[in-house]
Amino acid sequence: MTATLTPYSGVEPDAAWRDEVRRLVEQRDAVLLAHNYQLPEIQDIADFTGDSLALSRIAAESSASTIVFCGVHFMAETAKILSPGKTVLIPDERAGCSLADSITAADLREWKAQHPNAVVVSYVNTTAEVKAETDICCTSSNAVDVVASIPADKEVLFCPDQFLGAHVKRVTGRDNIHIWAGECHVHAAINGPELAERASQDPSADLFVHPECGCATSALYLAGEGIVPSEKVKILSTGDMVKEAKATNARSVLVATEIGMLHQLRKAAPEIDFRAVNDRASCRYMKMITPAALLRSLRENKDEVHVDPETAARARASVQRMIEIGQPGGGE
Ligand code: 13P
Ligand code: SF4
Repeated sequence: MTATLTPYSGVEPDAAWRDEVRRLVEQRDAVLLAHNYQLPEIQDIADFTGDSLALSRIAAESSASTIVFCGVHFMAETAKILSPGKTVLIPDERAGCSLADSITAADLREWKAQHPNAVVVSYVNTTAEVKAETDICCTSSNAVDVVASIPADKEVLFCPDQFLGAHVKRVTGRDNIHIWAGECHVHAAINGPELAERASQDPSADLFVHPECGCATSALYLAGEGIVPSEKVKILSTGDMVKEAKATNARSVLVATEIGMLHQLRKAAPEIDFRAVNDRASCRYMKMITPAALLRSLRENKDEVHVDPETAARARASVQRMIEIGQPGGGE
């Protein structure tokens, strides 16, 4: 049972709020970054909205002296690892991640001891301490490229997401990859039967499926069985979903990921009917970043993200390799 988290509240996202947020961003020489799962009003006020990889790259390259990261804690921590000299703020430091919580640095050290010659690939949804024990980090948009960059005869330890790990194993065809049994509670709950039912109601729809979903394997099974044409099943990071929305000819799209994603998709392709496979798939951590939390952050310089310098130095190499591999992540 997880503790109840009460988000900061009491501020309407009206024109006065927007003006004040933008004024404070300029005054602080800040850049405002928002993940695709943020509330629509937070996505719309940000300088950049995108996926984990795109935002990491922007954080690394930005000349602003302060990064305000509207996302969850590991994302802000990654920005701090890449830019130790900058002030990194997260509007509510209680915004955690169930997936990042599914492996500790001690767990990983023990796993490495059992496979001393393996290369460790960790999803970016991990703590700085886990990244410090990692050889290469990845995001959902470059996980396949990262694993493919490792010599085929090398054992790989992939953590912590079992569904993304299964996707990488399937695409790379590698059998020397060991996968940690972690999961994101939001994506794991988007299940196969629900996807199959929605797909059968709308056979002409594209299926956009995030690889963290419990239904990613089912989506490919539906394609394999000919229930859904295989070209309609697209396993994509959140940024790649936006790119695909602009490219597809489909009139309707079933979206299997956190529901914050629908906002960017509808903006990218207003003519397409985007529908959530599971409309209860909302990440309460992402939704901790409310208009009130953002205003507090900019007014009070809170919550500042600190990473122990020695841990950050060890983690930096693995994060740096992550941002160098793969296509540009999707960001606007
Ligand atoms: P991406 O934006 O990299 O696809 O990540 C999704 C996610 O679950 C972040 O927590
Ligand atoms: Fe973590 Fe899942 Fe929330 Fe993403 S959606 S931040 S993986 S708990």
